[in-house]
Amino acid sequence: MQMSGNTILITGGGTGIGRGLAGELLRLGNEVIIAGRRRETLEETVAANPGMKAIVLDIEKGDGIREFAARVTTSMPRLNVLINNAGIMRVERLGTQQEDLADMEATIRTNLLGPIRLTAALLPHLLKQQAAAIVNVTSGLAFVPLAMTPTYCATKAALHSYTESLRYQMRNTPVEVLELAPPYVQTELLNGKDDPRAMPLVDFIAEVMEILQQQPTPKEILVKGVMERRNLTALDRYEKVFEGMNAAMNIDTL
Ligand SMILES: NC(=O)c1ccc[n+]([C@@H]2O[C@H](COP(=O)([O-])OP(=O)(O)OC[C@H]3O[C@@H](n4cnc5c(N)ncnc54)[C@H](OP(=O)(O)O)[C@@H]3O)[C@@H](O)[C@H]2O)c1
Repeated sequence: MQMSGNTILITGGGTGIGRGLAGELLRLGNEVIIAGRRRETLEETVAANPGMKAIVLDIEKGDGIREFAARVTTSMPRLNVLINNAGIMRVERLGTQQEDLADMEATIRTNLLGPIRLTAALLPHLLKQQAAAIVNVTSGLAFVPLAMTPTYCATKAALHSYTESLRYQMRNTPVEVLELAPPYVQTELLNGKDDPRAMPLVDFIAEVMEILQQQPTPKEILVKGVMERRNLTALDRYEKVFEGMNAAMNIDTL
């Protein structure tokens, strides 16, 4: 992926990881459009990053996505990079939530159907560009689930799998397909902003920007803190990490 001269759409670009990436990519000489539900958050991010643009989007609402894509490509005809970053993470108690599936369904619509629908809507446009990229933000939890957030982890595992297939299908086209799988990072995602166990956001963004600038860009953008989870292959190691991670989060006390 080229690091300047792109026109980049970042969903969930008003906060956290999306906002961090949006700011850095703007500074490198890209046009950047951020999207999310909260207009005030978007406006605040744009005010802090002169030149950035914003557009309101609720990616959970499938029927508005094609219209949104048409609006973006009309106002930004040079759009050539899509970063599917918007996401939600909810704690679920599977034993007692049998009747209320609202959180689970919202998680699937936002984290999985959202990127699939937006990719489908923008792909015809991206395929016409000289060079284009789709970056899907998954998670280290795509590879080892955190049992307190089962549907979240399932959507990230599914998005990882979808990304692999998309990359394969795009292999002879101008569309490069990348996956960014963050470790636990200090953002508002699950009130982790002040959690010392999470990686500071500025350090994460700095490491990601360094990896992104490698040419050719690695197909999976993995900071050091997530490598181990990604590379677990032997089942006994996997089980040890799964047990250790879930015990450390003390899920029975939630
Ligand atoms: N932080 C971590 O530890 C971590 C680890 C692994 C992966 N990730 C992934 O990184 C991505 C960014 O998360 P973050 O940590 O930066 O958390 P965040 O600050 O909460 O960012 C999530 C963003 O998604 C947007 N969003 C949520 N639902 C949306 C919807 N229906 N339509 C449009 N936008 C929506 C939110 O904006 P609005 O609320 O204004 O819509 C927000 O800007 C997510 O995909 C997350 O799963 C994070």
